[in-house]
Amino acid sequence: MFILGLESSCDDCSAAVVEETASGPVLRSLVRRSQDALHGPFGGVVPELAAREHLLQVRGTISDALDQAGIPLRRIDRIAVTQGPGLVGSLLTTFSASKAMAWRMNIPWVGVHHLLGHLNAARFAAPDLQFPALVLLVSGGHTHLYRALNWTRLELLQKTRDDAAGEAFDKGARMLNLGYPGGPIVDACAQKALKAALPFTPPKFRDGKASWSFSGLKTAMKLRIAAEPGLDHAGPEDARVQALCRSLQEAVSSWLLKPIPENAAAIEAQSLIISGGVACNSKLRAEAAKVADNLDLRLAIPEPKLCTDNGAMIASAGAVLAVVDSPWAENADSDLVLI
Ligand code: KG4
Ligand code: ZN
Repeated sequence: MFILGLESSCDDCSAAVVEETASGPVLRSLVRRSQDALHGPFGGVVPELAAREHLLQVRGTISDALDQAGIPLRRIDRIAVTQGPGLVGSLLTTFSASKAMAWRMNIPWVGVHHLLGHLNAARFAAPDLQFPALVLLVSGGHTHLYRALNWTRLELLQKTRDDAAGEAFDKGARMLNLGYPGGPIVDACAQKALKAALPFTPPKFRDGKASWSFSGLKTAMKLRIAAEPGLDHAGPEDARVQALCRSLQEAVSSWLLKPIPENAAAIEAQSLIISGGVACNSKLRAEAAKVADNLDLRLAIPEPKLCTDNGAMIASAGAVLAVVDSPWAENADSDLVLI
């Protein structure tokens, strides 16, 4: 079965052709048209600009994915598209295109929750993964820990109280005038650092409830930068900038992994899945491998191109979800709830 997967929940427009085989999904093509240059000057995504750019990109993105796969449109058996959550103007472009194509071709259609997409990115490398699994989904908009019963069922265990972890990277890089998106830039700077700056203090919660918080990290970054004149324009080759990026990265990765042992024991996890854009982070990947090894968990972190938003993860989820009989009444939903 060939599935066309489409994703445009934020700023990237992506399409992929995935072949679902008896031994799992096989990636036939993946195209992603980035809008980083468009939003870079603003230091973050401008929703109106993103939606208008998607309208220009959607047709070419889909035809490039079909061409690269060498699969004509008439051989596509199913279309999967992100239904939400996300920026509604952005969602609507691929959402409307997918419904129109499914109607014209008279083929099954499935709307996918964005986080189920990130989860199913892990199916490419680990289709035979054992459940229950502990799932850390960490991106620019989400920092959530789930118990997964299978590839379609997630139960929330804990989430951030404020910002997502990706926001800490993006805003940290912005304060240092390093560019956008911040995660890959902070990662590259941190890897060049000969030593880390002072560590950041983890937040403490008075109510004692398990969760994360990353907004204080932004304030701490701001104070550190203000304390060193010129640091905000010193650039990525400056040793102090590199040391600060290394401390930021060490803080985020250690905070993210802290609740893993306790939760893995509580749900009797067989596996650990980490996905979402922040799962590209080199420190997080290295530390997660150690944690999984210690806990004797099978670790599944998709390769970086499948961690950030992409059409392949949506196609992979679309292969395991039930198709919608009559999708014409379905709509994109910026606050789509996971059920
Ligand atoms: O999953 P994603 O592509 O989009 C959302 O659903 O948000 O994640 C984007 C986030 C951004 O915050 C970006 O800075 C972060 O993922 N990111 C990284 C790395 N690559 C991307 N964060 C840390 N280290 C990286 N190497
Ligand atoms: Zn995402």
